[in-house]
Amino acid sequence: MATHSLFLLPGDGIGTEIMAEVEKLIAHTNAKGWTDFTTENGLVGGSAYDAHGVAISEEDMEKALGADAVIFGAVGGAKWDSVPYEVRPEAGLLRLRKDLGLFANLRPAICYSALAEASSLKKELVEGLDILIVRELTGGVYFGEPKEITELGNGQKRAVDTQVYESYEIDRIARVAFDLAMTRGKKVHSADKKNVMKSGVLWDEVVRQAAGDYPEIELYHILADNAAMQLVRNPKQFDVMVTDNLFGDILSDAAAMLTGSLGMLPSASLGAPDAQTGKRKALYEPVHGSAPDIAGQGVANPIAMIASFAMALRYSFGMIDLAGRVEKAISDVLEDGLRTGDIMQDGCKRVGTAEMGDAIIAKLG
Ligand code: IPM
Ligand code: MG
Repeated sequence: MATHSLFLLPGDGIGTEIMAEVEKLIAHTNAKGWTDFTTENGLVGGSAYDAHGVAISEEDMEKALGADAVIFGAVGGAKWDSVPYEVRPEAGLLRLRKDLGLFANLRPAICYSALAEASSLKKELVEGLDILIVRELTGGVYFGEPKEITELGNGQKRAVDTQVYESYEIDRIARVAFDLAMTRGKKVHSADKKNVMKSGVLWDEVVRQAAGDYPEIELYHILADNAAMQLVRNPKQFDVMVTDNLFGDILSDAAAMLTGSLGMLPSASLGAPDAQTGKRKALYEPVHGSAPDIAGQGVANPIAMIASFAMALRYSFGMIDLAGRVEKAISDVLEDGLRTGDIMQDGCKRVGTAEMGDAIIAKLG
């Protein structure tokens, strides 16, 4: 069996607790002989700042670049609220995304039937929900220059962020969305704000052009604000939604809550396939944050983290069967009535992080 290297970056807050469950899972699949992963751990975010004064060290960046996949927990917390902007915890994550060229962020929002009641929306609106948000991740307002606050000299300041996209960036993310849609419902909504933004006008133009190569795809344009509204009005109308970095950030949080909890949503961030090897750089992380309010208590929901690992099995290592079994194990423990605090329902059994992780591993056999 091929040996694959994983670089684990637990980060801050609940990041370390949920990563511990993935480490148990890796030990299990290795022991069973289903995988042969080697792992190494690094520091990112506030924990890297405390150790090295930066959001990720050069040494850990090298390791991330060299690994077959990076598994990432979460970063941030009040403790680092006043550190310089350049070394704030989030800077570590953004540098990883940028330097690894992870332009395609896949955020599936799937409503497990056992959790349909846990959603803030009516059960019939979310039961069976299966949306894939494809978020552009290395461009747009997150990285555009200039990005600065200047003194105007009259006691006023001026802040600028720059929303910028070039056509190749839009074309490649559109194609990722179309390729994925071909494996599912063949329907793509492209969300932008072309009614007020030039970047939106170009976004729509390039997406339509790329769609010419996908005659089977049903493509719909949707304004991003309307997309937010439709997500909470009638989410099951969506199959794949492709959108830019900022709108994708916002819309994926909304989509996550439809599934019952932000603690349920995994994500995969993928680079372009290498011209020689065909391998993609990749990072897998839960969509939720470091939840400082519950950190250290052993109560965090590890499901989004474990489901992110399942995405690594599928997208980085082609272990489709094992990925499906991990996802099935998650759905089985939910059917059994096990719940962490964030998805607790009447008549269910409240469990902690480790107990939830153990139960999922036990289901794998
Ligand atoms: C996400 C997060 C990040 C983002 C933060 C932590 C920088 O909200 O992955 O959705 O804005 O992209
Ligand atoms: Mg976000």
